[in-house]
Amino acid sequence: MRKIAITTVAIAGVALMALSGCSARTSGSGTDAAGFKSGSVIGVALPDKTSENWVLAGKLFTDDLTKAGFKADVQYAPSANTASEQASQISTMNTKGAKVLIIGAFDGKQLGTQVKDAHTNGAKVIAYDRIIQDSPNVDYYVAYDNEKVGELQGQALLDGMKARFPDAKTYNIELFSGASTDPNAAVFFDGAMKILKPKIDDGTLKVVSGQTAIAQTQTTGWLAANAQNRMDTLLAGNYSGTVLNGVLSPNDTLARAIITSIKAAGKNTPTMPVVTGQDSEAASIPLIMTGEQYSTINKDTSKLVEQAVAMVKQLAAGKKASTNSPATDNGSVKVPTYYLAPQLVTAKNAAASYANNPTLEALTK
Ligand code: BGC
Repeated sequence: MRKIAITTVAIAGVALMALSGCSARTSGSGTDAAGFKSGSVIGVALPDKTSENWVLAGKLFTDDLTKAGFKADVQYAPSANTASEQASQISTMNTKGAKVLIIGAFDGKQLGTQVKDAHTNGAKVIAYDRIIQDSPNVDYYVAYDNEKVGELQGQALLDGMKARFPDAKTYNIELFSGASTDPNAAVFFDGAMKILKPKIDDGTLKVVSGQTAIAQTQTTGWLAANAQNRMDTLLAGNYSGTVLNGVLSPNDTLARAIITSIKAAGKNTPTMPVVTGQDSEAASIPLIMTGEQYSTINKDTSKLVEQAVAMVKQLAAGKKASTNSPATDNGSVKVPTYYLAPQLVTAKNAAASYANNPTLEALTK
């Protein structure tokens, strides 16, 4: 009895696999996975090394994909001429017959040709951390919930200023965002502005420079030097004799540059302004413990890589990869999405997050 049941299931399974393989071939859409063998090439294209998360992701992808039996081809876009260099790295992965491309796009809008070619070859495309925009050829998106990251940053800025300047009725702030080529930059900024805009409108918050439009706040290439220069200019032009209470910084690399500028201008006395961040970088955790940087967002890279690799394994087995969130509109299609939850870190939980975060431990070794 039992034997018969198992056989029936097995036959049904084989029939299903044959069907899905067939539909993948005839439709050419690449949406029904036919599976692929262990030892297959998995291409991982990462944008640059401006933040620790990317540095660590490269190492973890190499280790975890290799452990799972695949051939990992992990590439970083070089810092010069990056968008086109990344595109050609991905074209080479296609030529090598990569079965899945995991892409952290340098420029979310510049990879349309490469992901189309991947689909023509029957490969799957997973957008990693950053969505790939304006293309129908993106199968999955795996990331930390970026809008939530922005909301946590906006709320941390408000809460931090209330705690640090208990007598103030209004607060002077400045706003920073990331690179315009990174679709996450606008999502972080919009998430933060959901919290901050009503307070700007009711006069609780004053952006002294008047620079509230995202285009005015961008940091080309997510480069620390660009944020530091802008902060220097903002302070020199707007803050002589005026207290600065807080700065919305989208990540830790930029937060440390902004803090350097604040200290150089003597705006850290008598009270250090509240500066937010993201990524829980090893260099920022000690600053959070001492209060120099107010907050960061922990997005444990090992968990995100683990999830992306789990998706690859599911695809290899001919299954759909799991998703857990509403699909993400990339301007062309709705991309099935798996989100992880970001976590706010302040002085209260910095030590614990440092101790429990393998990402940080690995980097400080
Ligand atoms: C990532 C952040 C990172 C930034 C700069 C964003 O897309 O989500 O974690 O700080 O890029 O590298």
